[in-house]
Amino acid sequence: MLKILVTGATGNVGQEVLRLLQSHDCNVCAAVRNPNSAQHLLGSNIQTIPFDFTNPDTFDYAFFQVNKLFLVRPPALANIRKQIAPALNAAKLAGVEHIVFLSILGAERNPFVPHSQIERYINQLGIKATFLRCSFFMQNLNTTHREDIKVRGELLLPAGNGKTSFIDVRDIAAVAVRTLLEDEHQGRAYSLTGAEALTYYEVANIFTSILGKPIRYNPSLLKFIRQMRLSGLPIDFILVMLVIYTTARLGLAGNITSDTEQLLNRSPLTIRQYVEDYRQFWL
Ligand SMILES: NC(=O)c1ccc[n+]([C@@H]2O[C@H](COP(=O)([O-])OP(=O)(O)OC[C@H]3O[C@@H](n4cnc5c(N)ncnc54)[C@H](OP(=O)(O)O)[C@@H]3O)[C@@H](O)[C@H]2O)c1
Repeated sequence: MLKILVTGATGNVGQEVLRLLQSHDCNVCAAVRNPNSAQHLLGSNIQTIPFDFTNPDTFDYAFFQVNKLFLVRPPALANIRKQIAPALNAAKLAGVEHIVFLSILGAERNPFVPHSQIERYINQLGIKATFLRCSFFMQNLNTTHREDIKVRGELLLPAGNGKTSFIDVRDIAAVAVRTLLEDEHQGRAYSLTGAEALTYYEVANIFTSILGKPIRYNPSLLKFIRQMRLSGLPIDFILVMLVIYTTARLGLAGNITSDTEQLLNRSPLTIRQYVEDYRQFWL
């Protein structure tokens, strides 16, 4: 039976990939740093395996007899040569046949982003791969920005009046599962966006109408930095967010592709649907 190892298994996309794979005829394992807490989070039906990108002692057991790997780069690991490549070398040695990698929109045009380096490294190793180059996740709004929206009624981020082609991680996971299970996606790269590009003013209006309380978009750069520092986020994470929101402010995050729709045979989920489904996060 096909054996699939899912990294980032406790994260936004990995959890959803695991959930969807449950209904398919394959052996699925969640590669996790802390099996006890992960088991609690993921439920007893999911098989967990200890795995840490930064601990080579975990590699042999985790990759044993694995055919396919869903690869998520943990956001904190930016040194690809030291922190990601050793695990990929081990995957190659163990005979992993196909990697589906959660990449970022535009990785092919920006050789400096970590995702671009990972794509090149996988190609160098000669492992068959599918790159899922994703737009900005809707779920950032119920994680990183949750408290601002819930407590202060504010969507605080410096994206100006730029549009973003938000994608729901549930759609990314559905595409990931399809590309893991069907061999025809090997050697392909997909640019995954939602079907609409919205400004944060428009997003705030959608929140206001669905939550039934006013949510205001505040594009102040200084207030954003101060608030992020107050919430204890590390400075390099804040810098990454600044780059992402500057990209949106410059009008470079609104590109819409048809890849998600073609791969799912349906329209991508809308931000309105997302806010309705996740509304308890902000109430
Ligand atoms: N957010 C966006 O809008 C966006 C858009 C495009 C691409 N991306 C990319 O998507 C990726 C993040 O995906 P996500 O949001 O699904 O993940 P996430 O929710 O940030 O979760 C990160 C995962 O990585 C695991 N992890 C952390 N350090 C690890 C280590 N040393 N070894 C093994 N696992 C480790 C965490 O496990 P623990 O439970 O052990 O902490 C967790 O499961 C990033 O590469 C990001 O750049 C994000």
